[in-house]
Amino acid sequence: MFDAKNFVKNSLIDIRKIVGDRKVISACSGGVDSTVTTALVHKAVGDKLVAVFIDDGLRREGEPEFVVRTLKNLKIRTKYIDAKAEFFEVFKGKTDAEEKRKAFRDKFYKTLGKAAKEEQIGFIAQGTIKADVIETVKGIKSQHNVLEQIGINPEIYGYKILEPLRELFKPDVRKVGRELGLPEEVSERMPFPGPALSLRVLGEVTPERVAVVRKATEIVEEETKKLGTFQNFAVLHNDKATGIKKGQRVYGNIVTVRIVDSTDAVTAKARHVPYDVLVRISERITGEIPSVVRCLYDITDKPPSTIEFE
Ligand code: XMP
Repeated sequence: MFDAKNFVKNSLIDIRKIVGDRKVISACSGGVDSTVTTALVHKAVGDKLVAVFIDDGLRREGEPEFVVRTLKNLKIRTKYIDAKAEFFEVFKGKTDAEEKRKAFRDKFYKTLGKAAKEEQIGFIAQGTIKADVIETVKGIKSQHNVLEQIGINPEIYGYKILEPLRELFKPDVRKVGRELGLPEEVSERMPFPGPALSLRVLGEVTPERVAVVRKATEIVEEETKKLGTFQNFAVLHNDKATGIKKGQRVYGNIVTVRIVDSTDAVTAKARHVPYDVLVRISERITGEIPSVVRCLYDITDKPPSTIEFE
């Protein structure tokens, strides 16, 4: 049985030993893993930590404000970096899933490296967990936060990496969050991937296409709050389909809704969602987003599919 109290106690000793009297920055996207990491490192080194929130333009509705507010409430020094334009620039013309993941990873670490240099910091703390490492090492997908485990030396970006949760799976990360006294809206938060909505816009990632999936995601989350599922989200397809809006033919967007149960994200089951919930989601997505003419529900388990589409 995982003992969160003991884990926190030992981690504090380890982190203090590794960091010494140097400074650390923590890449915090607001997800469970990166926020628990940030809070843990903050408990270990206090004000020697600066949390960095990179606004890449790929976050869910209201997320940048939520993250900055959460970190402020935890009394953690926070730096907000507006990198929206730079991220959209690197996605230009890219449609291949792995190419997009690698472009995100490279831009992400370069942005962090710049912040680390400005703050004269040699350590970056990040919320990599066991499932991220497994998927990347197996070659299934290059999770954005896995470097050393696949032979990339983080020092090419100018710093060393601290990953206190790298041996844990999600349920234990939540236990650590509770042990640290984090608010429920953080420790029980639905998992959300580092590369954010870029994984849910199939094909080229543009501000306009992200806006479509952001709105669809908001609708899915609102309509599925009570289901208690592991992850609920929307995906924008690269293909188009014929539909009718206001009596006119529209060749418009297709959105897929994904709602899965899982404990550790290594396997997952598509939820048998009540049909009326699906109908309501479809009506809202096609009604509230002008460009969407078709809404699908994904009934595939992992394996053979993965949770995210990219
Ligand atoms: P897949 O799609 O591989 O996802 O079944 C497993 C879990 O990991 C999340 N995920 C990521 N998280 N960086 C992250 O921080 C990534 O690059 C990444 N890719 C997938 C996904 O949302 C699911 O919870």
